[in-house]
Amino acid sequence: MLTEMPRCHWCNLPEAGRIDRLIASATARARDMVKSAAANPNRNPNRPTPRAGVDAAPAEGLPAIRSDARECRRCPLWQAATQTVFGEGPADAVLMLVGEQPGDQEDLAGRPFVGPAGQVLDAALAAAGIDRAAVYLTNAVKHFKFTPRGKRRIHQRPDGGEIEACRWWLARELAAVRPRLVVALGATAAHALLGRPMAIGRNRGRPIPTGDGAPVLITVHPSYILRVPDAGARERERMALVADLKAAATVVR
Ligand code: URA
Repeated sequence: MLTEMPRCHWCNLPEAGRIDRLIASATARARDMVKSAAANPNRNPNRPTPRAGVDAAPAEGLPAIRSDARECRRCPLWQAATQTVFGEGPADAVLMLVGEQPGDQEDLAGRPFVGPAGQVLDAALAAAGIDRAAVYLTNAVKHFKFTPRGKRRIHQRPDGGEIEACRWWLARELAAVRPRLVVALGATAAHALLGRPMAIGRNRGRPIPTGDGAPVLITVHPSYILRVPDAGARERERMALVADLKAAATVVR
């Protein structure tokens, strides 16, 4: 490091706060790497990370991942957002739910699914007999993407580059939690988990294998239900979401 930059400039690096911790743990991490290479002799360190696979990232504790994610600068979305909204839930949850990205209220609260879409999700989970506190709930993208309009912040869909940049965190959450099933709430989550755009209609409600990772079950995003204008159609969509969540609960039981 000294050959790259004199020590007097280290304090200006955004990562400076982590240097002491990294130096302190370097020997142990190097030993773990050697051990892991010996255990996986065929593993190519340059291969692209697999999709929902739990081997996509080394298993670390959620608190350390959450703490690192606070400083995320992997794409420009952090600049306008209030904070990183990391996942929450038990580290040993058998079911993981992945949404798109935090909305306005989640950005302010720092927690996923606490706004209007969260209320739809909570009701659907309850109707499906799933305890929200027992699932690990997160988003494909961890910063709120929006355009300001007057005093309002209007949600913008994350693009492929932002989804890809944020898969870094999703892969770590998957490796830490090792759920038995992952539910993709909407197209962005399905794209992040399966690595390609997926049509929801003909793929929803059944576990899709992902090689060596947890299978992914696709359903609609709860905010889609809020946008259905006709009350009857809205109720049918709500019931279909509940049916998909019940199917997910059956898989992990
Ligand atoms: N929509 C999402 O996809 N995630 C949230 O956390 C809130 C709304």
